[in-house]
Amino acid sequence: MTTTDPRPSDAQLAARLQLQERPRRLRRTPALRGFLREAHLAPHQLILPMFVHDGTEREEIRSMPGVYRHSIDGLLREAETAARLGVGSVALFPRVPDALKDPRGSESLNPEGLFQRAVRALKRELPDLAVVTDVALDPYSSDGHDGLVSEGGEILNDETVELLVRMAVSQAEAGADVIAPSDMMDGRVGAIRAGLDEAGFGHVAVMAYSTKYKSAYYGPFRDALDSAPRAGDKATYQMDPLGGYREAARESRLDVAQGADFLMVKPALAYLDVLRFVREHFDLPVVAYNVSGEYAMVKAAALAGYVDERRIVLETLGSMRRAGADGILTYHALDAARWLAEE
Ligand code: PBG
Repeated sequence: MTTTDPRPSDAQLAARLQLQERPRRLRRTPALRGFLREAHLAPHQLILPMFVHDGTEREEIRSMPGVYRHSIDGLLREAETAARLGVGSVALFPRVPDALKDPRGSESLNPEGLFQRAVRALKRELPDLAVVTDVALDPYSSDGHDGLVSEGGEILNDETVELLVRMAVSQAEAGADVIAPSDMMDGRVGAIRAGLDEAGFGHVAVMAYSTKYKSAYYGPFRDALDSAPRAGDKATYQMDPLGGYREAARESRLDVAQGADFLMVKPALAYLDVLRFVREHFDLPVVAYNVSGEYAMVKAAALAGYVDERRIVLETLGSMRRAGADGILTYHALDAARWLAEE
């Protein structure tokens, strides 16, 4: 006759495993798991980047399925949807017609230009929405660089900064709430701050693209604006991807000293460690830019059926919050806000 061993008691098993702690106890039910959640994601933490163009129909961006260049009317409709979903801020970028691009980016200062008209329309129709405007020459420049280019192909820092200040004031006059210099010239944050103050825009905030890498993840954005550099690359002003924390600290420190209201780490996903570092060493709000290439990769995999888009997006944005982002610029903002409302 054979006897089967009785199942060992929990106490016997625990003794065999020499377990002191059982983390799984708090993962047993949704209610208990709720206590372990440290990162919270809410629509008001998201900033929706949007593209505006001169046409009347919207155009989908080839490398960014679901993202469009909007007419001003289309922009208003999408921004209204964002606001309804609780996304309180949009970041605007113009697709400037090639015919209006020149080496000095002159169109950027046109008070009746597409960008200024779009900002005015947004603030007129949706006054509560925070409008973040981009300061850099690349959308307007026939050279496709963020700064002025010398005959010899050098990026001219101080001459560029003078132009950026005028661009920032022009955007503030159109109604921008937050000026976001994405150009990486030295000294531009302090110059823009002084220029805004002098022009009576002391209430307009500056969101500094403080830690911005020279990244391959910007490819789809350059498709959206047709703004890729015509010659050379951005290595003399954007940071080396394998640069370290000291350079991030230096750039952040300089922007704090020059009066920035927000710091940024961009791109986000490949630089979450840098985001955490900046979060721990500075007390300004930090935003992460979940850039176009990060969006494109998720979209491509989702459209191929390789990943679950909703879960991937919420997990990714959540990781940026956990790493320390107070805000996230993301092309997924509308979808994410909808999904969050359903949860
Ligand atoms: C340029 C600018 C870029 C982005 C925002 N502003 C691209 C670049 O530096 O070449 C990238 C945003 C994205 O990829 O989503 N001033």
